[in-house]
Amino acid sequence: MDQKSQHLEHERGSWGSNFGFLMAAVGSAVGLGNIWGFPYKMGMTGGFAFLIVYLILVVVVGCVVMLGELALGRKTGRGAVGAYMQFSKKHKWVGFLGVIAGFCLLAFYNVLGGMVMRYMFGFFFEVVGIDGFAGQGTGFFGFLLYDYGGMLFFHVLFVIINILIVMGGVESGIEKFSSVAMPALFFILLFVVVYIAFQDGAAEGYAFMFKPDFSAMSGFSGFLNVLKTAAGQMFFSLSLGMGCMITYGSYLDKKEDLQKNAIIIPACDTLIAIMAGMAVLPACAAYDVPYASGPGLLFTSMQQVFTNMGEFGAFVGFLFYFLVFIAAVTSSISLLEVVCTYRIDRAIDKGVKPNRQKITCIAAGLIFVVGLPVALDALGSGGAIFPAPFEIIGYQAAEGYKVPMAIDCWLDFFDTISEGVLMPFGALAMSVLIGWVYKTKKAVVPECEQAGHKFWGYGFFNVCFKFIVPAIMILVLVAQVIDFFVPKPL
Ligand code: TRP
Repeated sequence: MDQKSQHLEHERGSWGSNFGFLMAAVGSAVGLGNIWGFPYKMGMTGGFAFLIVYLILVVVVGCVVMLGELALGRKTGRGAVGAYMQFSKKHKWVGFLGVIAGFCLLAFYNVLGGMVMRYMFGFFFEVVGIDGFAGQGTGFFGFLLYDYGGMLFFHVLFVIINILIVMGGVESGIEKFSSVAMPALFFILLFVVVYIAFQDGAAEGYAFMFKPDFSAMSGFSGFLNVLKTAAGQMFFSLSLGMGCMITYGSYLDKKEDLQKNAIIIPACDTLIAIMAGMAVLPACAAYDVPYASGPGLLFTSMQQVFTNMGEFGAFVGFLFYFLVFIAAVTSSISLLEVVCTYRIDRAIDKGVKPNRQKITCIAAGLIFVVGLPVALDALGSGGAIFPAPFEIIGYQAAEGYKVPMAIDCWLDFFDTISEGVLMPFGALAMSVLIGWVYKTKKAVVPECEQAGHKFWGYGFFNVCFKFIVPAIMILVLVAQVIDFFVPKPL
């Protein structure tokens, strides 16, 4: 790095405190993945079986990849691409894959964020006595998918909010926002969980989640299906496998304990995911919404809850969606930040002053355009103005078989590319590089022992980097290929 670049280093900014970092990292992790994704994926993949596999993966893959990313980021002081570049120009592609994964994730995340805002405003209008759901009541979700004007409007709105926050820069933007929003979110979610516990029929939802039942994992293909779904969900929910935590780590002060953070962040995230499950699945049981409803599950089940709540329902509904909205924004800004940091670092390395404003607007604008099909294909339900991927390529499912998930709608398409393929692949590449090429002792240990902290988990993390994470990732990628080529019965 030449002198001019060094001088520009402060342009990157840094976290104000470890609490701020934690809240921003937890804010990045806790989002639609936990509240929208976790309950619906658990509902589709056998409840308890999914939960157990998920929890094991969080420990042996989640915490490990988290530590690896934070260490690489803080060691190099660079974002996803820049960090690998510092080790070798040849490894730059690993970081670059992450930037692409973030791009794909955001493309559909923005649309979901827009839907969340639509529900938030819907309940808000109900509170002030205006029909907020266009006369559709609890059937609103089916209407929303074909209400293209509404979909586009809220999609744009969500993107604009993201741009405004990310333009503010690290400390004044993301950190301040997260430090208030994350604790608030926890308490509002807790309230909803407790409320639902008192509804008739809710108990069946707890049994679905917590009563041992491995029937979803019968046979090797059943096991692979649960494994790949849980693994993808874990990357998505913990913000891993695409260098997001490399970027966040690069802003972290040298005196902070990496190992502790690599355990606290996944623990908080998993707690919120399970709480979201305990809100949505018992609600499904109580109001007869099928667990396996797919991506609409959060919206349909929760609207039943709030509508049946009576007088205060609309208000609680508003509060709930407001919190989901905040969770979504603190996550989407972290995704946008990854994409932007890539360009900012490049400018700094070239000795040019980065223009954060311009970079943010261009990145967000491009992602918005790529996300348009997601907003306009009615989740592949047919007859929409924009065709789903399988319709475009003229795929015909055989009698009694499903269209493979990767191409059944644009949301699942981008979801499969990012959390299903690029992120497991990114985690595989990172753990092999750390375990075998850079070596855990050199790349991770010195970072974990900064400022006199003890790295007591070295043995465990090292074995995971070298063997366990790569082995599981290869299984996940194989499962993904099988899922695509071997059609499943309806
Ligand atoms: N974890 C977030 C969620 O659960 C989504 C997210 C934010 C993310 N940043 C990420 C996922 C980086 C993967 C990588 O909603």
